[in-house]
Amino acid sequence: MSNVKMKTMSKTQIGLPVKGSEQLADKLNFLLSNFQMHYQNLRGLHWNLRGRDFFELHVKFEEFYLDSQEKIDLIAERILTMGFSPKHTFTQYLESASINAAQDVSNGAEGVEIVVNALNVLLDIEREVLAIASESNDDGTADMMTQFISQQEKEIWMLNAWLG
Ligand SMILES: [Fe+2]
Repeated sequence: MSNVKMKTMSKTQIGLPVKGSEQLADKLNFLLSNFQMHYQNLRGLHWNLRGRDFFELHVKFEEFYLDSQEKIDLIAERILTMGFSPKHTFTQYLESASINAAQDVSNGAEGVEIVVNALNVLLDIEREVLAIASESNDDGTADMMTQFISQQEKEIWMLNAWLG
């Protein structure tokens, strides 16, 4: 369905109000951009790591980026399911994300702190999305956010425990 066609209707293809869904899709696109930055940062951390934590964190960062890759796909396909377009170019991600690129980080503890900070940024956005989704009866989006949130909260606890 084109956006033009949708504007003439009050409901999206999945029967939700167009107005609330549009706002939600924008927020989900913001979440997507931030996840892409987080994903690429994790790749860099996985590659550039040095020191005695190498074996442990090299694997851990890979686990995180594989998980992020799945979430990126889920977010983008949720946006499409809602009848909107997911951002898909590096230019768009760089323009809109609030997570910065982490470059040449080789220290394990520094890397873990970068991940914790990114997870906190993502959590803030997810909680906003959840609030809007609940308000507009978008259970599909709300359910996805609830799962992301509880998982990331636990990850933050574990990473902070590792940091000591
Ligand atoms: Fe690898």
